[in-house]
Amino acid sequence: MRFTLAFGLLATGHFAAAHMELSWPYPLRSRFDPQADQSTIDYSMTSPLLADGSNFPCKGYQDDTTWRATTTYTAGETYNMTLTGSATHGGGSCQLSLSYDDGATFKVIQSMIGGCPLQSKYDFTMPSDVANGQALFAWSWFNLVGNREMYMNCADVVISGGSGSVAAFESAYPDMFVANVGNGCSSVEGQQTVFADPGAQVIYGAGLSATSPAFPSC
Ligand SMILES: *[C@@H]1O[C@H](CO)[C@@H](O)[C@H](O)[C@H]1NC(C)=O
Repeated sequence: MRFTLAFGLLATGHFAAAHMELSWPYPLRSRFDPQADQSTIDYSMTSPLLADGSNFPCKGYQDDTTWRATTTYTAGETYNMTLTGSATHGGGSCQLSLSYDDGATFKVIQSMIGGCPLQSKYDFTMPSDVANGQALFAWSWFNLVGNREMYMNCADVVISGGSGSVAAFESAYPDMFVANVGNGCSSVEGQQTVFADPGAQVIYGAGLSATSPAFPSC
């Protein structure tokens, strides 16, 4: 399914000041990944997805990067993910999601609502009922301050020890929230994105709580 591309996306000239990027697990084409093909490194990994949605999800890298596991997760265990960068844009809301179909479907395993990513490390538990095998692990982010953007970095991972099938996992977990990528849904500057269906594992920040109303509704 995957093929090697020259550098179409790199050639579009979308270079922005540093925002934030997933630094562990190593996302596809990350400069932090010592095994990454140096000729394909995305040095603007901190840039958001394009507003027209043309490189949703994962900046398109799930389709044009050779699959290679960067880490393995055992269901039921706790792990960390880390973020690097200098512009947190006042925080916002983030999600951690998994895709078992190369990016067609992303299901949320943890949400950080408000204040994300004001810390550079978040712990999460890989749920016990995930499916086993190759998956894409995604960090997505809706910034509070600045342009209306969706940030998304994805990593190739392997999951073991899970009790679920892909179908059972996909029906049990909520869809990743998607906005600001030409899909008719937009976040609003200065207003916290509160996911309507954040899943079972939620970390609240910035004064938000389980009773905060979902916003925006799309
Ligand atoms: C996150 O987990 C990795 C892998 O277990 C570990 O090497 C790293 O030190 C951890 N990072 C932090 C900031 O704790």
